[in-house]
Amino acid sequence: MSTQGTIAVFGATGQQGGAVVDALLDRGARVRALVRSPASGRARALAARGVELTTVRIDTPASVVTALEAVDAFSFMTPEANSLDEIEEEVRLGTTLVDAAVAARVPHVVFNSVFGADRLTGVPHHDSKHRIEEHLGRSGLRTTMLRPTGFMENFATVMAPRVEDGTVVLSLPLPADAPLKLIAIRDIGRIAAALLLDAVDVPGGAVEAVGDELTGPQIAAAFGAHAGLPSRYEALPLSVLPNELDREMFRQFAKASEHPSDLAAVRAIEPTTWDLAEWIRSTGRPLLAQA
Ligand SMILES: NC(=O)c1ccc[n+]([C@@H]2O[C@H](COP(=O)([O-])OP(=O)(O)OC[C@H]3O[C@@H](n4cnc5c(N)ncnc54)[C@H](OP(=O)(O)O)[C@@H]3O)[C@@H](O)[C@H]2O)c1
Repeated sequence: MSTQGTIAVFGATGQQGGAVVDALLDRGARVRALVRSPASGRARALAARGVELTTVRIDTPASVVTALEAVDAFSFMTPEANSLDEIEEEVRLGTTLVDAAVAARVPHVVFNSVFGADRLTGVPHHDSKHRIEEHLGRSGLRTTMLRPTGFMENFATVMAPRVEDGTVVLSLPLPADAPLKLIAIRDIGRIAAALLLDAVDVPGGAVEAVGDELTGPQIAAAFGAHAGLPSRYEALPLSVLPNELDREMFRQFAKASEHPSDLAAVRAIEPTTWDLAEWIRSTGRPLLAQA
């Protein structure tokens, strides 16, 4: 598709949607953001960069249909759910967006789902995305599932390594031999933009967004190499996690080697996709907390 069409983005004020907007604008595309609060600072910052804002109310589906009229493609994600009630809300939001895309006859929809959502895994906030994928599959729309793996940005926050007595230490509730699938949020946006603008036909209509796949000791070593320090990995028990949703997710992570990632397939779509070492370098700072 040419960059002359309009691409609608849901979640544009958030991490993934923001990255999709960045990548689309970099490529000269016209972007319409579906926002609930056009007066928010983040929405106004998008408008200042030339993004068209349109207000949607998920509980008023007609507002979403209107927002999707005459767009050439639609990118959407669903917000984080932290309880079983929020899971149902996530599914409702996703199905409302899909139904609106059907009503507005959107030519191509790209759903930022999650890796593994081609099947039910028992992880509530992954199975919710599986249900939305199934709804999309039944919709008759041309769809592409973009399935992000763990955000590398988590290493700047909740999964940050630290320095203890001159050694980089990474602690995660994951066995030392389990590979963790990782992607930079920037690259989720770039891959989405390629799918939205380039009419890339991916096998099976789905692509896992993955830039690297490393075990805990390998991740610790990447941070150690950047800092010029030795490194150590510490596998923690699942009980350190705050809720059962996250414990179930890490149980699945421990089985990741059953579904190895295709790193080459991603780079065939977006050759600039970062591996972890490149993402660490891109942050321009050591990212290490002092213990
Ligand atoms: N963290 C990870 O490693 C990881 C990995 C793979 C997948 N995921 C999945 O990624 C998702 C979170 O993505 P993210 O980090 O990009 O989310 P985020 O930064 O929290 O952004 C959420 C976006 O959704 C918008 N939104 C929420 N409810 C809305 C509503 N009712 N109407 C209109 N807009 C609404 C928010 O708008 P406002 O600005 O108005 O709030 C914001 O733009 C979750 O589903 C998670 O399971 C996460």
